[in-house]
Amino acid sequence: MKTIEEGKAKIRISEESKISRKLPVFYNPVMKFNRDISILLLNSLPDKDLQIGLPLSGSGIRGIRFLLELKKNKIKNISFNDNKSDFVKILNENFKISNIKKNKDIIISNEDANLFMLNTSGFSYIDIDPFGTPNPFLDAAITRLSREGILAVTATDTSALCGTYENACKRKYWAVPLRNELKHEIGIRILIRKVQLIAAQFDKALTPIFSYSKEHYFRVFFRCKKGKTRVDKVIKKHGMIGKTGPLWFGSLWHKPLVKKMLKNADPKLEKFLGMIMSESEINVVGFHDIHKICEHKKLYVPKYEPLMETIRKRGFQASRTHFSDFGIRSNISLNELVEIIKN
Ligand SMILES: C[S@@+](CC[C@H](N)C(=O)[O-])C[C@H]1O[C@@H](n2cnc3c(N)ncnc32)[C@H](O)[C@@H]1O
Repeated sequence: MKTIEEGKAKIRISEESKISRKLPVFYNPVMKFNRDISILLLNSLPDKDLQIGLPLSGSGIRGIRFLLELKKNKIKNISFNDNKSDFVKILNENFKISNIKKNKDIIISNEDANLFMLNTSGFSYIDIDPFGTPNPFLDAAITRLSREGILAVTATDTSALCGTYENACKRKYWAVPLRNELKHEIGIRILIRKVQLIAAQFDKALTPIFSYSKEHYFRVFFRCKKGKTRVDKVIKKHGMIGKTGPLWFGSLWHKPLVKKMLKNADPKLEKFLGMIMSESEINVVGFHDIHKICEHKKLYVPKYEPLMETIRKRGFQASRTHFSDFGIRSNISLNELVEIIKN
């Protein structure tokens, strides 16, 4: 075993360099970004006295960082759970080396994630961070999510959501994916709709407040509101694009939150949040893939910044998108865009 540091936390992990779900302690350094964003988001929301539920805690790194890095008034209590046999022992060791003193507001449990959630009185923040699909944990999480709570969902089964395995997407997410350059945005919108449908059964309206796609995973934070009318409004924003979908047509971000996160971000996250901020201003589903358009129309690929300037001069909005290095999010039509590139 060796000790590593991430943020303000210290934890013990296996010496093994290959990340595998079979490891006695699961820690993936690539997901530091995911944890950094979660902390920034919670510190940027007005919510206080959170009752935090971490049903799939792994090494405990996320919760330990929450305890050490969230603002003072944020946490009322925090519950760590994982079904790995050594979980309690490992978590206690990690508390010790991270200098966390246990008290009645730090609850530890070692059982199946669903049993753990259902046996509690509920949480105002639940983080579903599974291997693969979040599906097995959605019912219990949404049942136990408080009226105004926040649900964070990670999905690493992007091959299903992005259309490598179309039937897997139909089975798991009740939608037809799209296997082209838009696949990540379409995939995350399919995931969002699925989570919203599960919530609809419990008269809970879940709206995304911050969503992104990165490396091998999708991440979405939802705000919950109770009530049938609100749920009906959410479902009205589900629809098809040709044979693709159904998917979420609403916004992927709550703009004031993105603005706050950008303001509070440390320099390493600024570029990413700046890009999200500018694309969140444009209310369209999907983006134009400039490389694909130029390849198809046999045109030279223009420089992106001057192209966006010209689009704006014509009275449209334009932004880069974090979903693709070749994409421009804009409310301009394809025909008009092609005409600009030609000239
Ligand atoms: C991706 S890891 C979690 C990583 C952690 N949240 C972090 O930020 O580092 C998924 C964890 O879920 C646990 N797990 C998988 N299925 C479970 C279940 N049904 N009940 C409880 N824990 C489960 C695994 O043992 C593993 O530690």
